[in-house]
Amino acid sequence: MHNKYTLNIIPGDGIGKEVVPVSLKVLEKLSEKFDFQLKFKFFDYSCDYYLKHGAMMDKDGMKKLADCDAILLGAVGMPNVPDHISLWGLLIPIRRAFDQYVNLRPVKSLKGINGVLKEKKNIDYLIVRENSEGEYSDLGGIIYPDTENEMVIQHSVFSKKGTERIVKYAFELAHHRKKTLTSATKSNGIIHSMIFWDNIFENISKQNPKVITSKFHIDILCAQVVKNPDWFDVIVASNLFGDILSDLGPVCTGGMGIAPSANLNPEGKFPSMFEPVHGSAPDIYGKNIANPIATIWSCVMMLEYLGEKEAAAHLFACIEKITESTKTTPDLGGSLTTTQVGESIIELL
Ligand code: NAI
Ligand code: MG
Repeated sequence: MHNKYTLNIIPGDGIGKEVVPVSLKVLEKLSEKFDFQLKFKFFDYSCDYYLKHGAMMDKDGMKKLADCDAILLGAVGMPNVPDHISLWGLLIPIRRAFDQYVNLRPVKSLKGINGVLKEKKNIDYLIVRENSEGEYSDLGGIIYPDTENEMVIQHSVFSKKGTERIVKYAFELAHHRKKTLTSATKSNGIIHSMIFWDNIFENISKQNPKVITSKFHIDILCAQVVKNPDWFDVIVASNLFGDILSDLGPVCTGGMGIAPSANLNPEGKFPSMFEPVHGSAPDIYGKNIANPIATIWSCVMMLEYLGEKEAAAHLFACIEKITESTKTTPDLGGSLTTTQVGESIIELL
């Protein structure tokens, strides 16, 4: 009996519509080789959808999306729709309604690629970003708009439950890796939420004596992940700090074109979602030059999550064969198109 998986596919906007179809072809080929079945259900939720219907998805969109084994998303956002509408109309509701409170973002050097760092560093760490609360909150408001007394308040939300569960998840991962865990904080400046975060981190570290812990303020942490990336293995961070670190990390290993991510609901009560870290890249959209590796690597994470470990490992090995060769898109110095990179990976499979 082979395993069957239903995947809900949201290509979304911009290069999402280029990298997702290429990744699906790769997945189809892989499923033949490793004898599992995939059923794709497509959703056209996007900025184009918004311009037609006045909403980023239909009313029972979340209900429809819930029915699957995993979700694959390309990117959301285009210049003709304000970012807060597109993001808060699609991506953030999915992450929150499906309680995908873990955002895993691996930062890892791939064979053959140097990032912006002059010397090659063997970078390999994992960012565990809190994905359900924190600084990304819609609590707050504005008073006296357009007057000289105009004032805005933007609240951050750190719950005990939310902070504990992400920190515990990071410790669990650290146990399975190098048994070191770094916490990103800023408790010297943000004296309520970040002290709360630090206290919870310290309490949970007492329950995990085998894991060596460290704590860095986010500003110097940004400097050290560039200067001494080998100091880090698992980094746990709030929503905002994790978001910043996970653009900084990949630029050191090769750029946004190769940065994957997973939005996990670890309890499996709701589907998890896999997506590249990058956005819709309107500056290169339509040219067929977007690097599909970030999305294909996100598919590797999805296969691991689904339990297809062998297929995941094989696909990752093929990605590295591509990066080792010159068969890459222009962002990595090659001259292949998005489609051609996909075809090269399919050949290798
Ligand atoms: P972006 O990630 O779309 O692009 C940043 C830079 O990286 C651009 O120069 C782009 O060409 C390059 N790039 C990104 N992905 C690439 C790929 N696969 N291959 C080669 N080069 C690549 O970020 P930006 O420009 O800040 O945002 C554009 C839109 O995407 C905005 O509307 C933003 O809100 C949205 N966005 C959505 C995200 C999501 O859906 N998860 C994440 C980040 C941004
Ligand atoms: Mg980001």
